[in-house]
Amino acid sequence: MGLASHRHCGRHAAHQGILAHPPKERLLHTSTTPAMSHSTLNHLARQEKTRREILHKSDLIPPLPDLVVRLLAILNRQETEPQHLETLLQNDQVLVAKMLAMVNSPFYGLNRPIRTIKDAVMVLGFRGVRSLVLATSTAKFLQRDYAVYGHEPKGLWLHAACVASGSKMLAKQCKLGADAAEQMFVAGLLHDIGKLMLVPYLAEHQKAAMAAPSIAEFERETIGLDHTEAGALVTAKWNLSQEVQEVIKAHHDQVQQPGLQASAVIRLADAVAHERGIGYLPQRAPANLVQDQDLAALGLTTGQWQSLRDEVAAAMDEAVAALANLGS
Ligand SMILES: [Fe+2]
Ligand SMILES: [Fe+2]
Repeated sequence: MGLASHRHCGRHAAHQGILAHPPKERLLHTSTTPAMSHSTLNHLARQEKTRREILHKSDLIPPLPDLVVRLLAILNRQETEPQHLETLLQNDQVLVAKMLAMVNSPFYGLNRPIRTIKDAVMVLGFRGVRSLVLATSTAKFLQRDYAVYGHEPKGLWLHAACVASGSKMLAKQCKLGADAAEQMFVAGLLHDIGKLMLVPYLAEHQKAAMAAPSIAEFERETIGLDHTEAGALVTAKWNLSQEVQEVIKAHHDQVQQPGLQASAVIRLADAVAHERGIGYLPQRAPANLVQDQDLAALGLTTGQWQSLRDEVAAAMDEAVAALANLGS
């Protein structure tokens, strides 16, 4: 796959940090005018009521297990040693087994088996193990039923895992740095996690959702908030970085000028996954088009993107096929 190659991206790309992203404009909740019909007012009131209800219902965001929270905290510390992890994990062999199954799965594409947590630290580093802990502990939320969004069974998990590995690959190819690449993996994995909060509210709108040209617009129109905003709330509750929250919030933005490189990476990987329908039922993947401004943010020419896109697509297809063979 040539992950270490830097031929695809402009040199300046590596030096651009993560900048503050302007808050997304709320399309709805515009002030009402006297000319508004009664039914429009009713609709807006219903929408606002649902929005408030969702925002105040704290159990819509499941907490991460205590052990996972402690693991993530020690993995953030400079002075952490592999034995600290082993001590913490020794009483939870189920989590260890899940982590090892995950790291040896096709998404990681490692060329040698990882048998212990110590091995995992050696090969992935602490940042990589941090992402592994997150992937292992969030998989069950991503594997729920998201049919209302057009996902096949376990489809959101498949989609998320492919966007995660595609984003990490893009970040590496664009020389954004190892830390950023790991962050892109996490943001890619969780970019659609907001659907977790909204799915109970959309179940009764399945038909309309199927016909909607933009799912985020449909969500805002129907229940007053979309899964990008909800995703930022979920990842804030899980104490993930501000950058990850911002990138998730921006993953359906239409961009008028080159913005955050991190957001560009996720949008591009998502576009490839959507184009290939990964994780969706036939004909149900909404089109997420590649935006020129995102290529510009990463210093990519159209020609460079064509070959990079083919590599990302091939890696995603391989992962999908390998998982199908495993029956997971
Ligand atoms: Fe999305
Ligand atoms: Fe997506």
